[in-house]
Amino acid sequence: MKIVIVKNSKDVGAKAAWLVVKEIIKKRDLVLGLATGGTMIPFYRSLIDLIKGKKIELINVRTFNLDEYVGLSREDRRSYYYSMKKNFFSKVAMLEKNINFLDGMARNLDLECENYEKKIEDAGGIDLQILGIGRNGHIGFNEPWSSFRSRTREVFLSDFTRKDNSRFFSSLSKVPKRALTMGIATIMSARKIILLASGKSKAGIVHRALHGRISEDVPASVLYKHHNIIFVSDKGSASELD
Ligand code: GLP
Repeated sequence: MKIVIVKNSKDVGAKAAWLVVKEIIKKRDLVLGLATGGTMIPFYRSLIDLIKGKKIELINVRTFNLDEYVGLSREDRRSYYYSMKKNFFSKVAMLEKNINFLDGMARNLDLECENYEKKIEDAGGIDLQILGIGRNGHIGFNEPWSSFRSRTREVFLSDFTRKDNSRFFSSLSKVPKRALTMGIATIMSARKIILLASGKSKAGIVHRALHGRISEDVPASVLYKHHNIIFVSDKGSASELD
């Protein structure tokens, strides 16, 4: 694992955005896995600036987002789709057909997940996956004790994660209890991964994920086994690393 430590959350976003742009320049039809969450906001801002500034063509880029809440529609401001549309997709020239998202309103959620795996496979697999990390070590919505062999599926969210994410909702009770997420094996199949973290509140889990045992109780610890991963962190989230 290559680790890059920068000053603050804005620099984490800028560094990761630059790495993504370099990959798009190398492969115009890059298959890009995307993530949501607060850490990603500066990343998308920088990515948009770079794409515009350097006139990067996204027409052939295909994206697959990691996860979505069950029961929230795409028009719902709290859905990950809405957030992606607002923070990224509406600001760049991408083809709608190249944007792939799990549908948390699908009638048959198992089938939705099965089809998503198939779509990723048909696209030739994910070239580059962007990842954040939850304070309990979750990646995507793969909570502690998710199987390292898991693929895209419906999951129950832990109370911990629901509480953490309640800042995006009017109250804790409004946070969905279920979500659809790419599995850990799906994430690990990406040819390259960029993991982003920022802020002191992530320091403990970053230390456990990188220095602790590789174990299913800390899903992010599996990333240590990936052969092509860059971890971009600010000083806060890296503060407990040796
Ligand atoms: C959510 C997402 C994760 C993300 C995590 C951390 O739970 N499902 O993909 O990594 O939040 O988010 P934040 O960057 O807001 O700390």
